[in-house]
Amino acid sequence: DETVEIRASLLKWYDENQRDLPWRRISSKGEDEEDNEDTEESEKRAYAVWVSEVMLQQTRVQTVIDYFNKWMTKWPTLSHLAQASLEEVNEMWAGLGYYRRARFLLEGAKMIVEEGGGFPKAVPALRKVKGIGEYTAGAIASIAFKEVVPVVDGNVVRVIARLKAVSTNPKEAVAVKNTWKLAGQLVDLCRPGDFNQALMELGATVCTPSSPSCNECPISTKCRALLLSRCHDSVQVTDY
Ligand code: ADE
Repeated sequence: DETVEIRASLLKWYDENQRDLPWRRISSKGEDEEDNEDTEESEKRAYAVWVSEVMLQQTRVQTVIDYFNKWMTKWPTLSHLAQASLEEVNEMWAGLGYYRRARFLLEGAKMIVEEGGGFPKAVPALRKVKGIGEYTAGAIASIAFKEVVPVVDGNVVRVIARLKAVSTNPKEAVAVKNTWKLAGQLVDLCRPGDFNQALMELGATVCTPSSPSCNECPISTKCRALLLSRCHDSVQVTDY
């Protein structure tokens, strides 16, 4: 059905077009490689996803790359980070802003290490960690642990609003909540982490707020907003 086609087209596009980002080198595997369920590997991925997603929350990808690489060189694992001081962490964060996020990373790392049960894998357990909200929990669970859960950021709100031709304002709680529900129905069951990143990437690079590149979009034939704008010139599609 349509959902199955959307998943396949989006994943194919992602495989061919994804940006080469340092945290993806840790978190992604070749398709013909065996699934690595090795705990140590998953935990390394979870830590890298956590650091990168927190950095990406208010900062552009290009800026984050340098910060991420330096951070991972200084604290390559969660237990390294748990032994850092707040001064060291703040110093590393200098220029990124919102220092609270850096402190939460440190406090969260200490929490996970002290509890001794390894990195939490499911969203409810992740949510209990200092500074991990619904977005970061979904990203870590799906990208590092292959949990079939959605991830919704501002880009995903826009992509899904257009796909379904529902008018949404990402600043409205109801709209965001509805998008989480729709994204949960859409997420790919075999590659949830790649699927979620594909949606975010599509929103960042193709399905942009103004003048989206619909002719480069892998799911344009499924897009209700595009379909409507072709049938009725009067329909506002820039309102997403
Ligand atoms: N923006 C924030 N996190 C992202 C990710 N993992 N992939 C693509 N875009 C993102």
